[in-house]
Amino acid sequence: MPRAAVPRREIVTHSSEETIQLGREIGAQLKPPALILLSGDLGAGKTTLTKGIATGLGAAAEEDVTSPTFTLVHKYDGSTRVYHVDLYRIGDIHDLETLGLEDVFAEKAVVIVEWPEKFAIRTDWPIVNIHLEHVSEDIRRISIDDPAEVLSSS
Ligand SMILES: Nc1ncnc2c1ncn2[C@@H]1O[C@H](COP(=O)(O)OP(=O)(O)O)[C@@H](O)[C@H]1O
Ligand SMILES: [Mg+2]
Repeated sequence: MPRAAVPRREIVTHSSEETIQLGREIGAQLKPPALILLSGDLGAGKTTLTKGIATGLGAAAEEDVTSPTFTLVHKYDGSTRVYHVDLYRIGDIHDLETLGLEDVFAEKAVVIVEWPEKFAIRTDWPIVNIHLEHVSEDIRRISIDDPAEVLSSS
């Protein structure tokens, strides 16, 4: 029996470690190029999930993945290149050039975006939408929408 794929619909995690582990499984299944949009309130676990995704992709160590809230973009270089973008403070910036991301979609990378609703990124890359919801102190409901099947089931 092949191992079950990362569930496509909804997962409930009970600790940040569980969320990181889910991220690792997502990262291990990701086929670049892919745009990952992470929505959810402050503290929902977007950066925590990104730690797992970047680790699962072999792009960074968990402790190297920190919130790019002030710098807006972090780049992690490993077997896959990962851009981790946080648009929370994007303010009046309205183009990818200002973010230094104008050439990103010419690469075969993985781009992970927190607060994607702040600025519409146009790309023909496949998109995985992940929504994180704060249920209680340590519990998060995480829904994964993967219409382009970027996450393989193998
Ligand atoms: N199940 C969980 N999943 C993710 N984070 C959790 C969970 N339970 C508690 N936390 C805590 O919630 C916070 C999430 O922060 P962070 O990942 O930076 O959120 P965001 O990037 O969405 O603002 C961290 O302090 C983390 O330790
Ligand atoms: Mg964050």
